Amino acid sequence: MAMVIDSEEKVYIHELKDLYSAEQQLVEALPKVVKALTTEDAKQAVKHHLEETKGQVKRLEQIFKGLDYAPSGVKCKGMEGLVSEADEVIGEKEFPKDKRTEALLSGGQKIEHYEIIAYKGAIKSAQEMGRHSDASLLQESLAEEEAALRKLEQLSH
Ligand SMILES: [Fe+2]
Repeated sequence: MAMVIDSEEKVYIHELKDLYSAEQQLVEALPKVVKALTTEDAKQAVKHHLEETKGQVKRLEQIFKGLDYAPSGVKCKGMEGLVSEADEVIGEKEFPKDKRTEALLSGGQKIEHYEIIAYKGAIKSAQEMGRHSDASLLQESLAEEEAALRKLEQLSH
């Protein structure tokens, strides 16, 4: 019995650490993306999501405070790959400007899809463990990611 609880908790902590790493990588990467975008609408949308992302980092820190773990120690490799693809687009000098923005908006949607699935997984774990206040904090972040995805989809049309 105890072992089941332990492994459930391990999975949950790993999901949270992955998310924490992913959000931190985005806080670092998004200012470069804002700079590289060529339309004011897209710049504003990503700037807005950068501020939301900082709040998402704080929510995760709040969750970790209620658990006996530090948030560090895991690097989210999925986000590392997605961010390095964005870096490639930014560094590609041959891209026409509008194509660069299009490619970054598409990369942004990949990132949001990735985060949405990660939050859904963590919310499911939190609920299964009876950690309802964690689940509602994660739910707030999930709602922001879903709204960010819809905004990026609009901008891509
Ligand atoms: Fe996020």
